[in-house]
Amino acid sequence: MSPMKRLFDFRAEKKKKKLLKVLGEEPQLIVDDAPFEYVEAFKELRTNLNFLASRSKTEGKGCKILVTSSIPGEGKSTTVINIALALAQGNHKVLLIDGDMRNPVLRKYLRLVQKEETGLSALLNNDVKIEDCLARTEYGVDVIANGPMPPNPAELIKSDTMRSLLKGVEGHYDYILFDTPPVGVITDAAALSPLCDGVLYVIRHRFASRKQVHNAIKKLKMVDANILGTILTQYDVPKNSGRRHYGYYHKYNRYNK
Ligand SMILES: Nc1ncnc2c1ncn2[C@@H]1O[C@H](COP(=O)(O)OP(=O)(O)OP(=O)(O)O)[C@@H](O)[C@H]1O
Ligand SMILES: [Mg+2]
Repeated sequence: MSPMKRLFDFRAEKKKKKLLKVLGEEPQLIVDDAPFEYVEAFKELRTNLNFLASRSKTEGKGCKILVTSSIPGEGKSTTVINIALALAQGNHKVLLIDGDMRNPVLRKYLRLVQKEETGLSALLNNDVKIEDCLARTEYGVDVIANGPMPPNPAELIKSDTMRSLLKGVEGHYDYILFDTPPVGVITDAAALSPLCDGVLYVIRHRFASRKQVHNAIKKLKMVDANILGTILTQYDVPKNSGRRHYGYYHKYNRYNK
């Protein structure tokens, strides 16, 4: 292939990738051509998380954090991946687990090659070993993706096997992050939260209603979840606000205190 043709192919591929991101078919990760403000927002989030984790972390153990939201499509999976990437860029050892057994996307979003037979549900059913499930990504983040769709996700996610899995891995990682389904719709995230040190709550700008957010948060409070803070996604901060963030903004508060 001629150098000129290669250059055209490269440009066409780059253009296609950009378009897919704009159309929302591919997640915007904080790598390559991600907008500066977008990357900075996740770095800031990492700093805040480090601070919160250092307070809630038990000595020598991985800090387990779950990411959820009120309703589908608020940006949980994209956000949890980018948090994992930002933490890994900050030299933290990170394990990312796809706890959304009903609509798992980490395998797709991160282009993992491992087969479904070696995913989380298979691991929790003791069908496979953890060594077979761990995918090591180019971003320095280890991932356990979804396994075959189980008949009982909510039971499996809070099972004793999950407890032992976490006990087994927490000494090896600084952070263990979970992607989960929306807590306002499905109970899985609420079921998993007692096994985690904290919950990060994603709210997409002008998407879920106030009532949906309140009802969903109530479900987390009922199980005494430690809500570390909220992350507002897809919010384009006005140009003259003095704080320009591209499609992403976050805020911490003690929601349940
Ligand atoms: N901060 C963001 N800015 C712009 N678009 C985003 C952002 N976060 C996510 N998206 C887009 O929104 C869509 C849904 O994102 P994602 O899959 O992360 O949501 P989700 O909350 O995990 O959805 P589900 O509830 O179905 O699991 C995707 O097309 C994604 O590219
Ligand atoms: Mg998701």
